[in-house]
Amino acid sequence: MLRAIEKKDIQLALKWFNDPEVIQFLQVYLPITELAEEKWFERVSLSEHDIVFSIEIKAGENESKPIGNCGLHQINWKDRVSTFGIAIGEKDFWGGGYGTEAAKLLMEYAFCQLNLRRISSSVYDFNERSLAMHKKLGFEIEGRRRQAIFKNNRYADEIVLGLLKEEWGRAEE
Ligand SMILES: CC(C)(COP(=O)(O)OP(=O)(O)OC[C@H]1O[C@@H](n2cnc3c(N)ncnc32)[C@H](O)[C@@H]1OP(=O)(O)O)[C@@H](O)C(=O)NCCC(=O)NCCS
Repeated sequence: MLRAIEKKDIQLALKWFNDPEVIQFLQVYLPITELAEEKWFERVSLSEHDIVFSIEIKAGENESKPIGNCGLHQINWKDRVSTFGIAIGEKDFWGGGYGTEAAKLLMEYAFCQLNLRRISSSVYDFNERSLAMHKKLGFEIEGRRRQAIFKNNRYADEIVLGLLKEEWGRAEE
């Protein structure tokens, strides 16, 4: 399930986005303070160009548990394009299909509710799981920014991806 992020999510986000194993795959590289996270929450909550959801899984009869965030950023309402971001912060849930399922819900929302027509994304070359997820969703590789990223004491390429509304879901047909 995707739901709007709330102030109560800040503490979990601090745990996730200060975890080196998680952030090696993300743009984030500086330690994140509670104040910075609160400011980010405030900015995103009021922005018309960012939409962030908490990814929750069922945990019992009437309970759910947040395991990560996903969102649309830099939404451009004229060109109808946006950038996609996702992180399952609870590492025990990596590889369980939750990322793909959450991303599918987000793409459906982007294309069928917001009337966007293109979603941009990028993945570091060593992030095989994310690349596999993007391909399952129908993303096409559009380019490669060579050695654009320094992570884990090496330069990595940034693989540039895009998904058009008409391509969405085609990969699984
Ligand atoms: C990337 C991420 C969102 C993917 O979500 P996930 O729930 O872990 O991944 P899924 O289980 O949906 O797997 C997607 C595909 O990856 C592949 N995969 C899974 N584990 C893998 C592994 N260890 N190595 C390579 N590929 C793997 C599989 O092909 C899988 O497809 P399948 O269901 O057909 O087997 C999640 O791992 C994550 O948040 N990672 C840390 C942050 C991050 O990388 N964010 C994205 C930045 S671009």
